[in-house]
Amino acid sequence: MAGAIVAIFLALAAIAAARIIQLPEESREKRPLIGILTQPGDGDDRSYINRLEPGDPRRSNISYIAASYVKFVEAGGARAVPLLYNEPWETLAKKFSLINGILFAGGSASLQDGPYYRASEFLFKRALEANDKGDYFPVFGTCLGLELLAVIVSGNHSILDDYNAHKAAGELNFVGDWAKGRSMFTWFPKDILDKVEHEKLAMQNHVKGLSPQTWRDTQSLRDFFDVLTTTPDLNGKIYISTIEGRKYPVTSVQWHPEKNAFEWGYEGIPHSPDAVRITQSAASFFVSEALKSSHTASWEEEEQLLIYNYSPIYSGRDGKGHFDQSYVFW
Ligand SMILES: *[C@@H]1O[C@H](CO)[C@@H](O)[C@H](O)[C@H]1NC(C)=O
Ligand SMILES: *[C@@H]1O[C@H](CO)[C@@H](O)[C@H](O)[C@H]1NC(C)=O
Repeated sequence: MAGAIVAIFLALAAIAAARIIQLPEESREKRPLIGILTQPGDGDDRSYINRLEPGDPRRSNISYIAASYVKFVEAGGARAVPLLYNEPWETLAKKFSLINGILFAGGSASLQDGPYYRASEFLFKRALEANDKGDYFPVFGTCLGLELLAVIVSGNHSILDDYNAHKAAGELNFVGDWAKGRSMFTWFPKDILDKVEHEKLAMQNHVKGLSPQTWRDTQSLRDFFDVLTTTPDLNGKIYISTIEGRKYPVTSVQWHPEKNAFEWGYEGIPHSPDAVRITQSAASFFVSEALKSSHTASWEEEEQLLIYNYSPIYSGRDGKGHFDQSYVFW
């Protein structure tokens, strides 16, 4: 009797194992991976770089990702893959084929023609080409990321204006009611959608930006993007705060959805429950886009690519408020 039960059990186990092995690739659960491009520097006011010996060649080849962007994609249910701006383009192309979206983060990298700009342009153009071929591939740009996309799309390194929006939260003014039904705003709870127009819930921290007038005057930008929101800076000068690709799954914000939940380095970042729901809604939106991408990495490839291979440093320590934690690469 016991032997028969064991035999039945083993038979069932064998069938279950066979089912797992024979599972067709399309029905495998989606495991979205988001690539985040590094920027030059250590995210730590050079104090990390300065720990290296003066002659160490890594000093000039170091790059970082603020950990808040990693947490942001994780908040939406994806995992992060570092894309090093200074690694060979063949490596970036290989990674591109295995990830499901790219995030261009905020920061202070130069947008003049240089290695960071060129790597960004290479990846962005690749994303557009993929979409042209029916290979759905979303892009999200935050703060410097929006400025970067404006420069790439216009091909004009002088397209940006000066703004005074240093460490201050602001409102998001929808250009029309239709804009509330577009892009990531479809993921915002109704009450939050109403509040962002009247309460300062969107964190701003930038000295450059795209003016509505420049957008109107620049056909390449008008053709590529719809403007969804604008925001006044501290002097009342209006800049474009949210844009969406008209044809491509490209979404970009001059404000910082990731900071509300994940950065604490200075006063002024909204941390209220409403503010944190903005982080979560924006993250859910972006990852929902990434789930439409069909790129698939094997478990072995995932293991090699994941940010889990690195540990963040406490870059916000000693009042260095830019980023609480950063991942540093060399
Ligand atoms: C700079 O870092 C990148 C990324 O780790 C690496 O691929 C490249 O070889 C490095 N360059 C130098 C000159 O060390
Ligand atoms: C680049 O943008 C600036 C600001 O809008 C504009 O004044 C300039 O004419 C543009 N340059 C070109 C080549 O279009």
